[in-house]
Amino acid sequence: MTPIAVLSIFALCFSGSLGKYQPDWKSLDTRPLPQWFDDAKIGIFLHWGVFSVPSFGSEWFWNNWKGKSEKYVAYMKQNYPKTFTYQDFAKDFTAEFFDPDEWAKIFANSGAKYIVLTSKHHEGFTLWPSKYAYSWNSADVGPARDLVGELSKAVRSRNLTFGVYHSLYEWFNPIYLSDKQTNYTKREFVENKIIPEMVELIEKYRPSVLWSDGDWEAYDSYWKSTEFLAWLYNDSPVKDEIVTNDRWGIDIPCHHGDFYSCKDRYNPGTLQKHKWENAMTIDKQSWGFRRNAKLSDYYTIEELIKELVSTVSCGGNLLMNVGPTKEGIIAPIFQDRLSQMGEWLKINGEAIYGTKPWFYQNDTLANDVWYTGKGQAFYIIALNWPKDNILVVKSPLKYFRSVDTAVTLLGNENDGILKWTVDQSAVNIKFPDLATVRSKWAYVLKITFH
Ligand SMILES: *[C@@H]1O[C@H](CO)[C@@H](O)[C@H](O)[C@H]1NC(C)=O
Ligand SMILES: *[C@@H]1O[C@H](CO)[C@@H](O)[C@H](O)[C@H]1NC(C)=O
Ligand SMILES: *[C@@H]1O[C@H](CO)[C@@H](O)[C@H](O)[C@H]1NC(C)=O
Repeated sequence: MTPIAVLSIFALCFSGSLGKYQPDWKSLDTRPLPQWFDDAKIGIFLHWGVFSVPSFGSEWFWNNWKGKSEKYVAYMKQNYPKTFTYQDFAKDFTAEFFDPDEWAKIFANSGAKYIVLTSKHHEGFTLWPSKYAYSWNSADVGPARDLVGELSKAVRSRNLTFGVYHSLYEWFNPIYLSDKQTNYTKREFVENKIIPEMVELIEKYRPSVLWSDGDWEAYDSYWKSTEFLAWLYNDSPVKDEIVTNDRWGIDIPCHHGDFYSCKDRYNPGTLQKHKWENAMTIDKQSWGFRRNAKLSDYYTIEELIKELVSTVSCGGNLLMNVGPTKEGIIAPIFQDRLSQMGEWLKINGEAIYGTKPWFYQNDTLANDVWYTGKGQAFYIIALNWPKDNILVVKSPLKYFRSVDTAVTLLGNENDGILKWTVDQSAVNIKFPDLATVRSKWAYVLKITFH
């Protein structure tokens, strides 16, 4: 082939639509997942907004109150004048203690690699000065600050990846409700509000995650999801690193998107073919902060590590949610869980970050024993210290056929090779003295072959 012929083939490929994603799922689904996301394994979700002012019940406060849910109606009746509106809460979203660098430090110490902030929840209030949310954004009312902008800078300066959550629907937006009245044949809300707002958000803050939500009342054709995603993947300033979830319209979750979130608190417990994420919340009952939460409503660190380990073993990422207060505080109970997670990951992170699902996910014999793999090595993660210091597992039996198989325990001060034996049906691994082990809450064995 002549150099001219080669050049003209190149010109053909790059000039036309070839090599570009088409606005349909068949084409969009061929996009490879940006590697950073699979390597990261753990992120922090932040639900923050006007709902953080009542901080009662959940972030669905407005909808539940207007929907006549008894608890919310009674709360309003007892504590506020009759004329009080949800919008009246916004001025008390003060964020006076919001120190973005302090937050970023807390997140970095947790071992999480990415952050996902609610840039706009179903209430429609934007945490940035959006042109499309006039007088209903964090610069015009409440904090008088660009919360998305400030947090994105602080988080990035600590080498964490910044992402945003964004709700497509807005419960009480009259333009949305009027589109809904036409069974979504009219698309005024999407064309004049949602698409321009998402483009503004992407262009201004360049997030690496766009976590879409509030899609479920209408089809993706109403939301213009595939058109938007084609722009995002082809022409947006984040086209190479952005990852999105699957909440882009009725029937789309669990079927399309860079990663699947399927439903809240999704943790299938078995290996999945497609990248997925377990979005769950440390306060089991709410994503937004609740002033009246009880200690027992929060996950313990043992439970959180179990979520992380079972998720990562099955190919997922964990997105652990924290609800900041209206003043801009990460309550000490959340700080405690995040710092405990960081403590565990400092010792055991090599069995989590950058790993791949192994041949088995959990042991076929032992309860609460999970596996991950990395290169030639694999990891056995025991959620409990084994009885009589002997761990008995079955799944990896064939990897213990050679005397060259070496077992170490992460965070074992003596860094010794552990003794093991096999019999017909199981491997017995002798743990060291607990007193020599720095790890707490869950214990990781690294298996290598020489
Ligand atoms: C962030 O990464 C850069 C480049 O790898 C490094 O120089 C810098 O020290 C890191 N900053 C922090 C806070 O870890
Ligand atoms: C609304 O539109 C959907 C599909 O676009 C259709 O399946 C459904 O029957 C319509 N509903 C009504 C009440 O017309
Ligand atoms: C493996 O995990 C699955 C999902 O959590 C569970 O149903 C199953 O009982 C576990 N197996 C053992 C032996 O614990």
